Amino acid sequence: MQNIRIIGVVGAGQMGRGIAQVAIQSGFDVVMFDAFQNALDFGADFIKGQLNKGVEKTKWSAADAEAALKRLKTVNDMKALKDCDLVIEAATENRALKFDIFKKLDEIVKPGALLASNTSSISITEIAAQTKRPSLVAGMHFMNPVPVMKLVEGIRGLETSDETFNTVAAAAEKMGKTFVRAQDYPGFAVNRILMPMINEAFYALYEGVATAKDIDTAMKLGTNQPMGPLELADFIGLDTCLAIMDVLHTGLSDTKYRPCPLLKQYVAAGRFGRKNKKGVFIYE
Ligand code: CAA
Repeated sequence: MQNIRIIGVVGAGQMGRGIAQVAIQSGFDVVMFDAFQNALDFGADFIKGQLNKGVEKTKWSAADAEAALKRLKTVNDMKALKDCDLVIEAATENRALKFDIFKKLDEIVKPGALLASNTSSISITEIAAQTKRPSLVAGMHFMNPVPVMKLVEGIRGLETSDETFNTVAAAAEKMGKTFVRAQDYPGFAVNRILMPMINEAFYALYEGVATAKDIDTAMKLGTNQPMGPLELADFIGLDTCLAIMDVLHTGLSDTKYRPCPLLKQYVAAGRFGRKNKKGVFIYE
């Protein structure tokens, strides 16, 4: 297994900054890259804020928070990732963008270093094929909010080596996460199961089975989920849910994965969920 000391994170958005936070708190040195300086500054300030909140709540000591922050470096030039042992890409869920990032990372990052993607639905085999090191590429799918959620779903591309998969598993476990191993099929394990449930909640709403609030209350109180499926859809982003349903529908060629027309309509109307304060529910 490889020794991972320095982790690069591509993207300072919701997922990237969460991954960077748990990594520095687990003793890794982290280089967080974002091409947009304002996103980078916001991400770094957010991490600082989260660490301070944890001190106030006595989750960790001020000294530990300070030491963790010292392990974080922010850069707006991707070339600064060259010495990383593992780079975790957490950019926007867009195939062309991710393919381009992996081509660039492959040229920049030192030979033998591992590359991982936090993609929720794009094939790891295809991402790996953009590089000249496909055996060193794997999926590390973190859940949102990263500091709270205990899971990292590991995805093994066709060419991923045992050593790579075991090394990213060990890195995830060092971050306090449980690593489950999934094969590279559409939606992997989590979204293969979660998204059809969310989609079905939209069908129930569409067909008037119950109100949105009652569907959520039924699932929250009836099956002990922390959020109802419609609230969770808003939390994930309705556009993201639709994109993942499209991947399942196309990738598995089965009509049982067809996205609900109501979900499509919400997205067409620009109701993306919590991120723009309007989804199934309205957020003030
Ligand atoms: N970052 C860090 N910590 C956060 C946080 C964030 N964004 N949001 C909440 N927390 C922490 C809070 O600080 C609090 O910590 P303490 O208990 O230690 O004080 C704890 O989480 C609970 O928060 P709240 O009391 O504010 O709120 P809550 O009890 O309603 O929990 C929740 C909020 C943790 C988000 C909970 O509702 C939940 O678990 N929801 C389901 C989330 C989920 O399913 N995520 C996976 C989505 S799927 C995915 O990510 C993958 C994909 O590909 C689509």
